[in-house]
Amino acid sequence: METKIKEILQAGRNAMSQATELKELEDIRVKFLGKKGQVTELLKSMNTLTVEEKKNVGKMVNLAKKELEDLLDSKKEALKETLKAEKLKGETIDVTEPGQTFEIGRRHPITQVIDQVVSIFSSMGYEIIEGPLVDTVFNAFDGLNSPKTHPSRDLTDTFYLDEENCLRPHTSTVQIRTLQDREVPIKMISPGRCFRCDTPDATHSPMFHQIEGMVVDKGITMADLKGSLDYMAKQLFGPETKTKFRPHHFPFTEPSAEMDVSCFKCGGKGCNVCKGSGWIEILGCGMTHPNVHSVGNIDTEEYTGFAFGMGVERIAMLKYGIDDIRYFYENDMRFLEQFK
Ligand code: PHE
Repeated sequence: METKIKEILQAGRNAMSQATELKELEDIRVKFLGKKGQVTELLKSMNTLTVEEKKNVGKMVNLAKKELEDLLDSKKEALKETLKAEKLKGETIDVTEPGQTFEIGRRHPITQVIDQVVSIFSSMGYEIIEGPLVDTVFNAFDGLNSPKTHPSRDLTDTFYLDEENCLRPHTSTVQIRTLQDREVPIKMISPGRCFRCDTPDATHSPMFHQIEGMVVDKGITMADLKGSLDYMAKQLFGPETKTKFRPHHFPFTEPSAEMDVSCFKCGGKGCNVCKGSGWIEILGCGMTHPNVHSVGNIDTEEYTGFAFGMGVERIAMLKYGIDDIRYFYENDMRFLEQFK
């Protein structure tokens, strides 16, 4: 009996010292200390012994049992510790590894130009007024003094929804809305999208952007128009920029003009941007026609005003040296990410 106890004890010690996993340890516990385990069986088999024998053997078995239990506990703790250490080792963060980079978005070049122009006019006290993309034929043409025969009213030029409504072909519709909605004096700027039946090519797009401006007050003259637009050009293209006004025709302004700026690339000497002329056309403008003011019931004897409209894509293309308008709408990151 004694040798058997020693054998079992030794077997238990060996088994435990070799265990590397908690599951293994549990099997060992069942094998030795479980309900049908070897130590438990030993205790059961003691029935057959005499009282005297029971005393000695019982003591031995209990000591062996106690030793195995203690061993099991400490081995379990030790194993848990090593497993935890291994797990932590696997999860350590290498702080020297380069971090994840996040792409930071930037404003679209069209938005950048709009923001710049709007902020220049805001600094001169202009109010920003937006108009809808679908507007009435009246606001797009009749209210703006356009004769029924004007070529831009053609079905091949303007997108009509029905006889009375269209996709606005210019932001000048906002002139009529403002004249009807607001009291004079008026000083407003209105950026937004416009639509014309143009087949896309390097310089045309059926959807594009304009910025409209309008001032109505007592005593407004052509000098105010020229001074304001010259100031804008210098802010937008640099202080050396010169401006030139060429006579033109628009039904809603009289007199009308187109404004050219001295080429910001060559300074006026002539280059590929200005096609050798030294000048670049950037907007249409003029003194608002009295017929237009009348639509807003404005006293045309007392009040005068001016208006202008510029193409945003054209300015962005010139400013950033972009040779095809279609790049703006393709959402190609290789193009867009260049405009920091
Ligand atoms: N609406 C004109 C265009 O689209 C531009 C313009 C606006 C001209 C205001 C004069 C005054 O070409």
